Amino acid sequence: MDHANVQPYSGSPANLAVYLAFLQPGDTVMGMALPMGGHLTHGWSVSATGRWFRAVRYGVRQDTGRVDFDEVRALARAERPKIIFCGGTAIPRTIDFPAFAQIAREVGAVLVADIAHIAGLIAGGAHPSPVGYADVITTTTHKTLRGPRGAMVLSTAEHASVLDKAIFPGLQGGPHNHTTAGIAVALHEAAQPAFREYARQIVANAAALAAALTERGFDLVSGGTDNHLILVDLTGKGIGGKPAAQALDRAGIELNYNTVPYDPRKPFDPSGIRLGTAALTTRGLTPEQMPQVAAWMDEAITAALKDDEAAVASIAAEVRELLAGYPMPGFAAS
Ligand SMILES: Cc1ncc(COP(=O)(O)O)c(C=O)c1O
Repeated sequence: MDHANVQPYSGSPANLAVYLAFLQPGDTVMGMALPMGGHLTHGWSVSATGRWFRAVRYGVRQDTGRVDFDEVRALARAERPKIIFCGGTAIPRTIDFPAFAQIAREVGAVLVADIAHIAGLIAGGAHPSPVGYADVITTTTHKTLRGPRGAMVLSTAEHASVLDKAIFPGLQGGPHNHTTAGIAVALHEAAQPAFREYARQIVANAAALAAALTERGFDLVSGGTDNHLILVDLTGKGIGGKPAAQALDRAGIELNYNTVPYDPRKPFDPSGIRLGTAALTTRGLTPEQMPQVAAWMDEAITAALKDDEAAVASIAAEVRELLAGYPMPGFAAS
């Protein structure tokens, strides 16, 4: 990309800057619906972006869990959005940037790729890049990119000035220089050969964990993963996402409860859980250990269904024991 602004305070303000740069209140934006995997700031109803703009939303097919580009194209042609967001917050599959770019060109929309989740994978060569396809790229710097909480907006030269002005003075005041310094360190790390290996290993771990979970009867949205992220529909396990996530937390396994596409349950009590392999990869775990992680997840959920807190506590002890051999980088083993 020609231009980068590293000052957005976080991912949501970065996306809001895109609206300020290109849209007037009431203009049309198209993004993936939140329950389908999109982000709040892609025009969801409770977000300012859904309240102050006219949002139209695409999803994934119920049978495949994947984006249907015929649907996206038909919607874009009918609704003529000024901007189209691709990317999201619960998407386990590769984002087809060329397909979105083609549709955006056909309808004269600005294509914004929000790569918050996968920025580290892209930097490390483990996911295709939107550069050359998207007009604007927004990203947080704290997910797979493994930097401080912050964000960046990248763009072609054509859009640089309007985006800079939207960020400052449009939305923000003084720069958070401490964060910018942290982002510089993160980008330096991401440019090292070791980071390519990290990105590759995140994806390998996710693939191994997805396979092990499937073997244990977990129902994975889209049937698996191409990236760092796994979205599990727990309906068949007879437990909601929230009690499962809470039991897993007590068992020492951190993830979040999440809606799944076409979820019949409410967002605060959804059917699914969402997990990623970035943190355990940073600790040094490898695909060989993923069947054990899947086994713990299965056992903790079974224990939760039986209110067996002793079993949950014993899994937590096993998790602690394994991870004692894989300390946080920079911290001594306990
Ligand atoms: C795709 C995507 N965009 C934007 C954001 C917003 O980032 P932040 O929480 O830094 O505002 C997130 C955060 O989860 C995200 O997943």
